[in-house]
Amino acid sequence: MLSDKVLDNLPHEIRRRLEPYVEAVQLMTATNNAKVLRSMAPSGVRGLILQRGKQGVPTLMPSHHKVHFDWTYPNDQPEMRKLYTRAKEQQWNGDDLPWHIDVDPENPEKQILSEEFMDFASLRSAGIRLTDLEERRLNSSMSSWMLSQFLHGEQGALFAAAQVTEAVQFFDGKLYGSTQVVDEGRHVEVFHRYLDTKMNKLYQINDNLFVIIDALIQDSRWDVKFLGMQIMVEGLALGAFGTMYQMTKEPLLKELLKMVIQDEARHVHYGVLALRDHFRNALSESERREREDWAFEVALLMRNRFLAFEVYEEWFEHKLTRKEWAEFVTASPGFALFRQVMFKRLVPNLREIGLMTDRIKPHYDRAGLMEYFGGQSASQLSGDQMIADLDAA
Ligand SMILES: [Fe+2]
Ligand SMILES: [Fe+2]
Repeated sequence: MLSDKVLDNLPHEIRRRLEPYVEAVQLMTATNNAKVLRSMAPSGVRGLILQRGKQGVPTLMPSHHKVHFDWTYPNDQPEMRKLYTRAKEQQWNGDDLPWHIDVDPENPEKQILSEEFMDFASLRSAGIRLTDLEERRLNSSMSSWMLSQFLHGEQGALFAAAQVTEAVQFFDGKLYGSTQVVDEGRHVEVFHRYLDTKMNKLYQINDNLFVIIDALIQDSRWDVKFLGMQIMVEGLALGAFGTMYQMTKEPLLKELLKMVIQDEARHVHYGVLALRDHFRNALSESERREREDWAFEVALLMRNRFLAFEVYEEWFEHKLTRKEWAEFVTASPGFALFRQVMFKRLVPNLREIGLMTDRIKPHYDRAGLMEYFGGQSASQLSGDQMIADLDAA
């Protein structure tokens, strides 16, 4: 890309300041769908250029959806009603997790992310030498960063679940949604407690995650909120939680993630149920295509740009360029595994709701994401099964 070449020839300090703007422009010109560009661009400006998620408290976002009332209380979606019953039976209390456990993320015996998560040899070849202790601290920073993004995502999920509960037209979906609001509240509670009392470190929201949350919270269309939160963010989170569950040697976090994964499996299942018929039957072809392109953009945003720049700014801002850091993170074995597991969960769900037609497949193929096409979707997979699969792997 021309802008990359121009950047390569600039002095380090100027380059460091310009890179976020170039990334914003690249993001906003990545889609060929004018409607997607129009709906994402304002969020791109707010997230990437104005960095609204990093400007202190509060961040206020207007919402534009309609609240859908139904005074006849129909039993209209038996499968959602079943999920509602299961959700009531599976409620749990965050206080019951083993909070007495001592967490020490710098202790190699209890590390949250595995030692091989990052490829320190490639950092050394870029001229950065860290002591063993610094390597463990960087690993710990990366764990806090990841858990902080989980927490910020959960806050987005809490408000999105509340909005969707208001806006959705299925009455059984509204009842189910009420349990999801409680679930997401509990997830905010436990991730925050973990970060606050065990890690003592909270990172700000990643700009790209902010863009996605900003876009779906402000969109007036319930199905776009649903697609953004229940399929994309939750689907990817489910993959990320699963990877961390498998990787971590820290028993409190393992238990916490096990409980959260079971809730999230229901949430994604609900998203698939609600959107499958809607996308297939209620939308025009151009409306469906817009959702298909929107989903692809969000997938790319999460695949290419969720690169821990907040850790970079803390550790390496004056030693590496953003591009060098992005290459380091992209190539690191831990992130590669995260990407693989996240998309293994997401792609089958997109197929299931009809957003993976022959028209878009070549784009996913070019992005290296088509290998996951044949996997099981959330409607075929329960939370218990998911944990059993993770334990067996
Ligand atoms: Fe959640
Ligand atoms: Fe969720």
